[in-house]
Amino acid sequence: MIRIDILTVVPDLLDSPFAHSIVGRAKAKHVAELVVHDIRDYATDRHRRVDDYAFSGDAGMVMMVEPVFRIIGDLKSQRSYDEVIYTSPDGVRFCQKEANRLSTLGNIMILCGHYKGIDHRIREHLITKELSIGDYVLTGGELAAAVICDAVVRLLPGALGDESSALTDSFQDGLLAPPVYTRPAVFNGWKVPEILLQGNAAAIEQWKFEQSLERTQRLRPDLLP
Ligand code: ADE
Repeated sequence: MIRIDILTVVPDLLDSPFAHSIVGRAKAKHVAELVVHDIRDYATDRHRRVDDYAFSGDAGMVMMVEPVFRIIGDLKSQRSYDEVIYTSPDGVRFCQKEANRLSTLGNIMILCGHYKGIDHRIREHLITKELSIGDYVLTGGELAAAVICDAVVRLLPGALGDESSALTDSFQDGLLAPPVYTRPAVFNGWKVPEILLQGNAAAIEQWKFEQSLERTQRLRPDLLP
């Protein structure tokens, strides 16, 4: 079973995303183990301080090296980790291919970035991979960590109700997913495409492929070779 340890100074932020939906179910079904750690528990002073002024004199607090060193060391003494990820806008852009790769690993640590950054020695010596979820700046890395965990956990066998559904997601074959419909076949005069009602499986597959291709050409031409 995959284990993901998330290291944060605001653990409460991750309660809701990990309690509900597919990730919540995956935890309950023991498909994945997600453990949130409060970095403050590894502070060395009685004020549980985890950030300090930047040597450069810039405004804003910087996450201190020592508590992070201690928590990562503590976790590594209990098991080995395949990847120690840091979430940051200057990381590599997270994508489906990376989600697929992470879903095949055993133990992953995710250190959530801090608004004004973390002592760079952590990134130089302890982090194996830096990931960004997009070209915009979040207040901290927690939401990015939740996005990464969601994308990874839903790929695990047993996480989704229908085993095959993760394979038909947008991006899994390099194309956007085709449109989907459910009953009623006509609503308010709006009709479901006729081909879907005729029950010809091969014709439906062909239609889905054409729709995927057309949508990708129109909406995300950058995805096509
Ligand atoms: N922390 C702040 N902004 C971020 C982003 N875009 N991706 C990942 N972590 C972040």
